[in-house]
Amino acid sequence: MSITPETLEIPTTTLRDGTPFPLIGLGTSSLKGVECATAVSDALRLGYRLVDTASQYGNEAAVGEGLRVSGVDRAEVVLTTKVAGGDQGREASREGVLTSLRRLGVEYVDVVLIHWPNPSRGLATDTWRTLLDLRDEGLVRHVGVSNFRPEQIDSLVKETGETPEINQIQLSPALPRQTSVAYHRDHGIVTEAWGPLGGREDLPQQFAIRRVAAKHGVDPARIALRWAIDQDIVVIPKSNDPARRRTNADLAQITLDDEDRALLASLDLGESAAWDSREHEEW
Ligand SMILES: NC(=O)c1ccc[n+]([C@@H]2O[C@H](COP(=O)([O-])OP(=O)(O)OC[C@H]3O[C@@H](n4cnc5c(N)ncnc54)[C@H](OP(=O)(O)O)[C@@H]3O)[C@@H](O)[C@H]2O)c1
Repeated sequence: MSITPETLEIPTTTLRDGTPFPLIGLGTSSLKGVECATAVSDALRLGYRLVDTASQYGNEAAVGEGLRVSGVDRAEVVLTTKVAGGDQGREASREGVLTSLRRLGVEYVDVVLIHWPNPSRGLATDTWRTLLDLRDEGLVRHVGVSNFRPEQIDSLVKETGETPEINQIQLSPALPRQTSVAYHRDHGIVTEAWGPLGGREDLPQQFAIRRVAAKHGVDPARIALRWAIDQDIVVIPKSNDPARRRTNADLAQITLDDEDRALLASLDLGESAAWDSREHEEW
């Protein structure tokens, strides 16, 4: 695929094994059908190289279609999907991932995450073992978790000796999740932020972020995203709007200073405002 002058250069972080990993990707949770396929192909043509989906989103076929329509080489794209709660367990999760591969229309998937720990079922460790097997078999390149608290990751590591490469958690300036982020850093786990624009927490309406945004002449969304990638945290903003997809991934000209960071730190709602995966489950 030829690179046009409009193609964005997306910065990267690295996974534990040294694999480069885009710091900005496209979220797809409420996108469906043709709309989803178009958003994915447009984003890839624009320069996005990371796309986040999940079995639970009901859009894997559309994400795969967007990848094919884009004309971008499969090998250049990092596709992430997730094992749904109802697919947890040793055999069921294998079936779930194989079904995801079929729907996506790909021979391997780059990243598979356990979507939520769902402690009431007690199947997270069995599911994790299956993901490790699938990685050994080459069907999955990298494995991780989502919405796991540090002690929930500790339990996987204690049982299997294998640490997730990524943990995708709810995170924005309204929910900086400092305990999780520090734990991830100490264990070589890449932190990936869902809900990075903080819409559920009314972040874009808050005075502090609006003030930082006005100072830099950009929208609050780009401030929230820049703040995260400055900490080496991967962001996956979802947008159905072509102009927003571009600005969300075009952060190179924004430089936050200490005054900005202090203002953004004032937005922390505390850990208790985040969805708690000891209680919140998704199936
Ligand atoms: N692991 C999990 O449990 C989990 C949970 C939730 C989400 N996720 C993943 O994370 C991705 C992102 O999270 P999310 O979709 O919940 O929230 P988000 O990306 O923080 O916010 C998406 C919302 O913000 C709007 N938006 C996007 N860019 C904007 C901009 N520049 N200015 C103003 N508004 C903007 C979008 O509307 P428009 O489309 O109209 O632009 C949409 O309503 C999801 O799509 C999904 O892939 C994972």
